[in-house]
Amino acid sequence: LAMAAENPEEKETMSTASDHLPRVVSCGMSLFKWKGFWMYEELFKAAEAMRDHFEPNQDDIILTSFPKTGTTWLKALIHTILRSSTEEDPLVELNPHELVPVLELQMYPGNPNLMDQAPPPRIFQTHFPFEILPEPVKKSGCKIVYVARNPADTLVSLWQFTNKRNQGTNYCVSLEEAFHAFCEGTVADGPYLDHVLGYWKERTKIFFITYEELKEDPYKHIARLAEFLGRRSLSEEEVRDVEWRCSLDRLRGVKANRGRKENHWSGYPYEAFFRRGMVGDWKNHLSQDMIERLMVITNQKLDGSGLQF
Ligand code: A3P
Repeated sequence: LAMAAENPEEKETMSTASDHLPRVVSCGMSLFKWKGFWMYEELFKAAEAMRDHFEPNQDDIILTSFPKTGTTWLKALIHTILRSSTEEDPLVELNPHELVPVLELQMYPGNPNLMDQAPPPRIFQTHFPFEILPEPVKKSGCKIVYVARNPADTLVSLWQFTNKRNQGTNYCVSLEEAFHAFCEGTVADGPYLDHVLGYWKERTKIFFITYEELKEDPYKHIARLAEFLGRRSLSEEEVRDVEWRCSLDRLRGVKANRGRKENHWSGYPYEAFFRRGMVGDWKNHLSQDMIERLMVITNQKLDGSGLQF
């Protein structure tokens, strides 16, 4: 409400404009472009509700990412770093998405009080681009963590995940279709590289990490992350413990993620969040032409930014 009062003109724009925004149907999804990013109707409504009602606290932690860049891993890591207890590991019974809610899917607009009982620091996640984060989040001083991933692996992971959702239906997204959409940016919360750049520009204020860095040296980056989160300085043994608890092989095997389905997206089996977890899986899927085109787009977009994948 505070935000709405501060900027009534923007509220008017958000509430009435979606009909007049550019629209596209991409990989079976009806999307429209708002503030430079492709959204579907529910995301737009969630953004409105978040803008009007979300009250961030200074000690909140907000994990931000584009889908399929390592969100589940970071959720597990942040939760374990902050909440770990030697007796019971919540990751055995619960998927990381049950421990760290997605603001625009699990909380807004329908369930804004979900974290009211949570002990501080509250941990949230969003796939919204920086440009769409509510202003109070940016001003609150809360800690923002962003994970990025090389575009080719992100595309392949997104394509595979999309088809998990479509399993059992007649609609299967071809690689060509997924590739075209990814390059055009017409995927929810896309264009991907604009999403990354929005947070990259804020990198001195946030914790910015790539999936590849984390894969290469989890110990180093988990220790850095713990320090950023400001909770405690972890011993070597504790960092190793966090690394193991949150490893792909372990999470894939725990009962939380076997034979259970989430209920906020489209009933994805929790297994779907744990696939190969490789750097360079794109080599198994993309043609030479595809990878060359993606590299051209990536290089053009990132030129001069200082960011490389
Ligand atoms: P792949 O599809 O390339 O295997 P998100 O969590 O953002 O949806 O990203 C999913 C990607 O992260 C998937 O990549 C998945 O396998 C990988 N992943 C999930 N949990 C992981 C973990 N604990 N460690 C490393 N990678 C993980």
